[in-house]
Order: sequence, then C-alpha cells, then structure tokens
Amino acid sequence: MRFWVPGGRGMLGKAVRQELTARGLDHVETDTNVDLTDAAAVDAFAEPFTHVINCAAFTGVDACESREAEARAVNAEGAYQVARAARARGAVAVHVSTDYVFPGDAKEPYATDAATGPLSAYGRTKLEGEQRFLAELPAGYVVRTSWLFGDGPCFPATVRRLLAERSEVRIVDDQTGRPTWAGDLASALVSLALSSAAPGIYHCANAEPVTWYGFAQAIREADAARGRHYDATLRPITTDQYPTPARRPAWSVLDTTKLEHALGITLRPWRETLADYMALK
Ligand SMILES: NC(=O)c1ccc[n+]([C@@H]2O[C@H](COP(=O)([O-])OP(=O)(O)OC[C@H]3O[C@@H](n4cnc5c(N)ncnc54)[C@H](OP(=O)(O)O)[C@@H]3O)[C@@H](O)[C@H]2O)c1
Repeated sequence: MRFWVPGGRGMLGKAVRQELTARGLDHVETDTNVDLTDAAAVDAFAEPFTHVINCAAFTGVDACESREAEARAVNAEGAYQVARAARARGAVAVHVSTDYVFPGDAKEPYATDAATGPLSAYGRTKLEGEQRFLAELPAGYVVRTSWLFGDGPCFPATVRRLLAERSEVRIVDDQTGRPTWAGDLASALVSLALSSAAPGIYHCANAEPVTWYGFAQAIREADAARGRHYDATLRPITTDQYPTPARRPAWSVLDTTKLEHALGITLRPWRETLADYMALK
C-alpha cells in the first residue's frame, strides 16, 4: 500500500502527510514539480501508488475571478488528471472539493446531493473538477470541506495578525459555515480511502456552524486563555461593508452525516480543535 499526495506541501497536504506518517502508511508527495495541468507530466510520474488523496488546487478565491482559466486548469483539468492516473493503476482516489459549489441561500445544512450553484469562478472550477473526476473514475471519492484552517495561510492566522497590528478589526458576521481543522479532515480522508464506503460525494467539516465574526471571537478567547491578549476591538460587519472580487455563500453549512455514518465517526466541534491549531509552531 502506498499513497500519492498531490499538493502535498499545501496546508491540507501537510496534514495528510502527517496523518499517513502517524498511521505508518507509506507515501510520496508532489507539488508543482508534477504539474497536474500537464498530462505528459502526470504520465511521467513513475512512482508506484495504490491510493491517492488529491490536495492540489488553485485556492485563491478572489484571484480566481480574474484568472479563471488558470484556476480551471488546476481545479478541473488537474482533478481529471488525478482520476486518469488512478484509473490507469487501479488505485483508490480521493479528491477534495469545497462548500463554495453551493449558492448559499439554503436554510438547512447542504446534503451531498443538494443542488449546486456556485457564485464564484473558484466554485465553478471546483464543481467542474468534481464532475470531471467522477466521470473519469466513478469508483472515486469526492470530499467537500469548508472554512479549512491548519498549518498555512488561513482565517485564524489572518485574525491573529490583524488583532496584533490594528486597533479595530472588522469581521463579516452574516456568512455562516463550519470551520474545519485540517488534521481532522486529513484523518477522515485517509479513513475513507481505506474504507469500503460507497463511492461518490461526501461532506467533511467540524461541528457547530458559526459566522466568521464568531469564529474570530473564539480565536481571540482561545489566545486569551493562553495568556496572549490583544488591545484591538473586534467589530461585526455585513458582507456589503466588505466588498471582495468573489461573491461568497451566506450559508455554507455542510451536512456531514453521510461521511459520519460511512466511517462510524462523530466530527467534533471546531472549538475543540483550536487547541491543536494553537499548538502549531
Ligand atoms: N482553504 C480553504 O479554506 C478550503 C475550503 C474548502 C475547500 N478547500 C479545498 O481543500 C483543498 C486543499 O486546500 P489548501 O488550503 O490546503 O490549499 P493550498 O494550501 O493552497 O495547497 C494547494 C497546493 O496545490 C499546489 N498546486 C497548485 N497548482 C498545482 C499544479 N498545477 N500542479 C500541482 N500542484 C499544484 C500548490 O502548490 P504551490 O503552493 O506551489 O502553488 C499547493 O501546494 C483544495 O482542494 C481546496 O479547494 C480549501
């Protein structure tokens, strides 16, 4: 058994490699050294593998608006290339996608078969990636996640930096989602790859929906509990008061029951994962 982790040096890729190492599972990671947008480069990748967890993506949500073709090359063509390579080797494949495939106008958590309707170029290219991946490899797994944080650029890192730099930090309080600790997602991805769960789409996110403002408050409180205090004021604002190139869903709450039943796990509240985040160096 050997895992290939494309995007293995990104935020999630690092967590997946740590999880594989912790479980004693052999693996090889690649990044832009095996360009997933280049079929010949993927064909030339000669390492053996029996499982692949695709963590590579063009993740700059706002940058995607002006660079949609580049984003599509990685997020859609790249997903297809991973599926093609897995199929050629008879490998189990897991591809990671996003809550941004949904329009965000629901009132209930999004089930895996809920109607999609991305609001942004990022969401469109990721949705195309899901479709191209599963068309090439119907036995594969697509796992959508949301509000990912871990060892890399992410919301908690930005909040901590801004709290340290500014006297007032304004955070959007009318977008609701489920923050997800990269370590918990990595564990679920590896478990799914090793399971006999039915192929198709799954959702993975830590429990308890919150707004970005609520998430920021919790980060501040978790720091305070560890003796790190900020003088800055945190202020809730609306999305209209913080215009960005890409539109983001107001309601980004994923229903994760399908994954939890398939793996026999309960995804813990994201608040409990902040200690893991704070322990990062
Ligand atoms: N971050 C979030 O909030 C979030 C939310 C929902 C879903 N997701 C999904 O979760 C997954 C992991 O995200 P992440 O935050 O860990 O992303 P990340 O830190 O940006 O890592 C993505 C990795 O993919 C690599 N990559 C980019 N283009 C490539 C190419 N053409 N060929 C090979 N590798 C390439 C990047 O390399 P370079 O750094 O060298 O470009 C980077 O190491 C993605 O599928 C993302 O869409 C993320």
